[in-house]
Amino acid sequence: MRKNIVAGNWKMNTTLPEGLALAKDLDAALKGKTVNCDVVIGTPFTHLATVAAAIDTAKIGVAAENCADQEKGAYTGEVSAAMVASTGAKYVILGHSERRAYYHETAEILKTKVNLALANGLTPIFCIGEVLEEREAGKHFEVVEEQIKKSLFDLSVADFGKLVLAYEPVWAIGTGKTASSDQAQEIHAYIRKVIAGKYGQEVADNCSILYGGSCNASNAKELFSKPDVDGGLIGGASLGVDKFLPIIEAF
Ligand code: PGA
Repeated sequence: MRKNIVAGNWKMNTTLPEGLALAKDLDAALKGKTVNCDVVIGTPFTHLATVAAAIDTAKIGVAAENCADQEKGAYTGEVSAAMVASTGAKYVILGHSERRAYYHETAEILKTKVNLALANGLTPIFCIGEVLEEREAGKHFEVVEEQIKKSLFDLSVADFGKLVLAYEPVWAIGTGKTASSDQAQEIHAYIRKVIAGKYGQEVADNCSILYGGSCNASNAKELFSKPDVDGGLIGGASLGVDKFLPIIEAF
């Protein structure tokens, strides 16, 4: 059956010493503790190798927040999936709405990134979600369906089975406006139905679908209590152990 996962997304926050301290604090806080979910931290590229070497990666998976859409070569400033994998990171967040909006990542680019991530043994945490106008126009179901179909539906059953999805309504990210647990459940169930329609019920039932967008210690329990919400992708509240640990413990 699918896993419950709580994943942090640090975004462009923390210097290397700050990030290392945060990772070590989390590692220490989890030491000897039994938790009922997988824990992941998404750090800037510059932190990956140092963080992965400093913590128990059997307990805390490390994620990059992006990777290149090219394998290797003359792409100054880019970081490939193979490079990410060589740091000890096991995951890569792809398709985050900030990457789609500010860095013009299209469905086609993301499809290439997902393929490269999988080819290099990384688990993509693939983000989907609608903007406010789409939600208000009642288009959120078709928006997420298109995002899934365009970037992911050429994958084999075996490869699709390796993905983690994260539904993140853009209007909820960093705004303090969380989707209600019923809104999250409604669209997570829909996403699972879309997956089942293409890959079958078993693959859909085994796919972890995380919720992201102003998820915090006070709403995590309620969100995670929903049958199709398998955890969270946590931005702001992953930047301090005092805020992140209670979300992990919400399971
Ligand atoms: P937030 O960000 O928790 O700060 O809203 C979530 C995300 O963007 O992954």
